[in-house]
Amino acid sequence: EAPREPDSFRALLAADERVEPRDEMPETYRRTLIRQIAQHAHSEIIGMQPEGEWISRAPSLRRKAILLAKVQDEAGHGLYLYAAAETLGASREELLDALHTGRQKYSSIFNYPTLSWADVGAIGWLVDGAAIVNQVPLCRCSFGPYARAMVRICKEESFHQRQGFEILHTLAHGTPEQHAMAQDAVDRWWWPSLMMFGPPDDASEHSQQSMAWGIKRFSNDELRQRFVDMTVPQAEALGLTLPDPDLRWNPERGSFDFGAIDFSELYAVIRGDGPLNRQRIAHRVGAHERGAWVREAASAYEAKRTARRAE
Ligand code: ACO
Repeated sequence: EAPREPDSFRALLAADERVEPRDEMPETYRRTLIRQIAQHAHSEIIGMQPEGEWISRAPSLRRKAILLAKVQDEAGHGLYLYAAAETLGASREELLDALHTGRQKYSSIFNYPTLSWADVGAIGWLVDGAAIVNQVPLCRCSFGPYARAMVRICKEESFHQRQGFEILHTLAHGTPEQHAMAQDAVDRWWWPSLMMFGPPDDASEHSQQSMAWGIKRFSNDELRQRFVDMTVPQAEALGLTLPDPDLRWNPERGSFDFGAIDFSELYAVIRGDGPLNRQRIAHRVGAHERGAWVREAASAYEAKRTARRAE
């Protein structure tokens, strides 16, 4: 049975207008958005870890400055997204607590290790490339604050993707050892990047409802296919190969066919059994605890200001 929806909400969706925080909305719509936006915010801040590890080991001052800016962008994306979730009545504290205790998820992709400098390139090219394909349609999401946050985030993601491509291009055109390093990174990140788009459509529990509400504009499999079609020619331009012997152009579909994805790996990572899940959460919780004094000082300052204003 379809959930009961206020007429004003139905009218906004029918006119393809944005739902704003004070508009009437079904409780299930609100909860779905909090779930997705929070998961997205958590992904941005956990996503700082794999690349953050390379800031002190970047091969030049220029590379270091770029990487530092990129990791800071991700912190910023997390902040806009938490702010968007707060407009739906969730508190920052409650969302972080749900991340730290495993009640809310973050993207599977950030549970894989960054073993070499080339991984920073592969993350920019493939992971941020996948993020753009997934997030550009979210700029038209039916919920206004999420859609607007996505516009700036997508612009910054494009810069991230370009810098990853450029790192890999430099390595792929360097010494044989550098080329091998770039190829090894692509071999390890390709399949996990395809898994970022989520389970296949027939196993995606939320897709149908989220598409009916205009939260998601395309299905998981549609976006995955779009990513493959965009990436294959870029791999050729890089002089690197994608690790899938079944990858070939299908003229009838006007798309690339690709091999079967091992979704049992995605489900294991989502369950908490990826290579680095425990380490990522332990690191996050540790940083949060070490930052307690900052939150306490800010609250004490605010309490004093409020008291002074009341005098
Ligand atoms: N990693 C972790 N969990 C995932 C992933 C993934 N790659 N894909 C799906 N899931 C989870 C879903 O969150 C859902 O779990 P939940 O009910 O506990 O929330 C479950 O698997 C079933 O999946 P779906 O029904 O397909 O879920 P949904 O409709 O939310 O689609 C998707 C998943 C495509 C990730 C969607 O939430 C989305 O577009 N999110 C916004 C983008 C985002 O979060 N990007 C983060 C990574 S990119 C970056 O930050 C650089």
